[in-house]
Amino acid sequence: MPRISILKHLASAVALCASLVAGAHAESKGNSVPHLSKYQQECAACHLAFPPGMLPVASWQRIMGSLSQHYGADASLNDATTRDIAAWLKTHAGTYKRVSEAPPQDRITQSAWFLQKHRPGEVPADAWKRATVGSPANCGACHRNAAQGGFSEREISIPK
Ligand code: HEC
Ligand code: HEC
Repeated sequence: MPRISILKHLASAVALCASLVAGAHAESKGNSVPHLSKYQQECAACHLAFPPGMLPVASWQRIMGSLSQHYGADASLNDATTRDIAAWLKTHAGTYKRVSEAPPQDRITQSAWFLQKHRPGEVPADAWKRATVGSPANCGACHRNAAQGGFSEREISIPK
C-alpha cells in the first residue's frame, strides 16, 4: 500500500473509533443525558451496554420495538422504560458514515466495520469459539475496558 493510503486508512480508523465510542466516553466523564443509568441497568444485565454510537437509529428502533423476542431472549421492559431508553438511543445513535447502514440482524458484530476490524488476520478464527469468549458480542472478553467505553488497541488482550 502506498504510504498516503496507509495514512488515510489510519486516520479513518481513528475517526471511526473516536466516533463509535463518543457516547460511552461522554458518559464516563459524567456529562451524560438523564436516562443513561436506566440503560446501564436494563441493557447490561445479559451483556455489555453496547455504545449507542455503534448502531444507526433504525437498528436501535427495531431492537427497542421487539424486546420480547430479542436474539432468542425475552428482554422486555415496561412501556415507560422502553420509551426512555429508545429516546436516549435515538439521540446518541451512530452518525459516522460507516455506521449509517443497518447491519444484518441489527448486530454490531455483523457490521462491515466490525468484520473488517476483527478479520482473521487480527483475531484468530478459533478465538471466537474459546470458552472464555463464547460469542463475538462478548466484547469484554478481549476489550478489557469495554464497559467503560475503552476499545483502543492498547486495551485489548485475547484470552487463551
Ligand atoms: C435477558 C437478557 C438480555 C437483556 C436484558 C438484553 N439483551 Fe441484548 N442480547 C441478548 C442476547 C442473548 C443477545 C445475543 C448475544 C450473542 O449473539 O452472543 C443479545 C444481543 C444484543 C445486540 C446485538 C449484539 C451483536 O451481536 O452485535 C444488541 C445491539 C443488544 N442485544 C441490545 C440490547 C439492548 C439495547 C438492551 C436493553 C433494552 C438489551 N440488549 C438487553 C440478551 C439480552
Ligand atoms: C476475541 C476477541 C475480541 C472480541 C470478542 C471483540 N473484539 Fe474488538 N477487537 C479485537 C482485536 C484483536 C482488535 C484489534 C484489531 C486491530 O488491531 O486493528 C479489535 C478492534 C476493535 C475496534 C477497533 C479499535 C481500534 O482502535 O482500531 C473496535 C471499535 C472494537 N474492536 C469493538 C468491539 C466490540 C463493540 C465488540 C463486541 C460487540 C468487540 N470488539 C469484540 C478483539 C475482539
